[in-house]
Amino acid sequence: ENHRSLHGRHVLVTAGPTHEPIDPVRYIANRSSGKQGFAIAAAAAAAGARVTLVAGPVHLETPPGVDRYDVESAREMLDAVNGALPADVAIMVAAVADWRAADTAGQKIKKDGSGEVPPLSLAENPDILKSVAASPARPHLLIGFAAETHDVVAHAQAKRTRKGADWIVANDVSGDVMGGDANTVHLVTASGVEDWQPMPKGEVAHALVERIASHCMKEER
Ligand code: C5P
Repeated sequence: ENHRSLHGRHVLVTAGPTHEPIDPVRYIANRSSGKQGFAIAAAAAAAGARVTLVAGPVHLETPPGVDRYDVESAREMLDAVNGALPADVAIMVAAVADWRAADTAGQKIKKDGSGEVPPLSLAENPDILKSVAASPARPHLLIGFAAETHDVVAHAQAKRTRKGADWIVANDVSGDVMGGDANTVHLVTASGVEDWQPMPKGEVAHALVERIASHCMKEER
């Protein structure tokens, strides 16, 4: 029935990993596939929202009706996110690299045969979720994800307050969630925790979009 439940809303989604360059041919990355974030963007568009998807390097097709911006690094993702605001709802699904190489070499770092290992110092990346939470253009509903291998809910609750998000979708990545097609999530809000059944990422996306739509309806009343 509720097919156009997000009609008239602008929904911003980040998805995928980031790649942090070391030199022109090497980078720091992680195992995020982007599937969950793309599924959420698709579900929001199917619900009638205008959807902006800021995607790290992934091998996925753009869902129908979604405006997609491809980025590589965390800092590029932050710029694209700031450029996409304002939004009514933001869902930060991307697995943003916590650290980047402190210096990026302009040329390929060469192995010279001496057995010496080049130093690799790291610098902290901006926290995109935290910075959106503190922005004057903060969306009314700001949702983060938390991929954890242990104490999933406790970490998510701490993250919700620390980062200034309204909701955190916590997922247990101790199994093969990253790259896989199913997800077991817990929805952490100010009023408590909901444990959702394990389900395909597409169903997690639809269930989350329905929750978002009913939240937006309530806010309006
Ligand atoms: O701290 P952690 O990386 O576990 O937080 C995950 C949440 O924060 C996700 O919503 C992720 O998209 C967001 N995040 C971010 N920028 C970062 C790190 C995480 O937006 N640099």
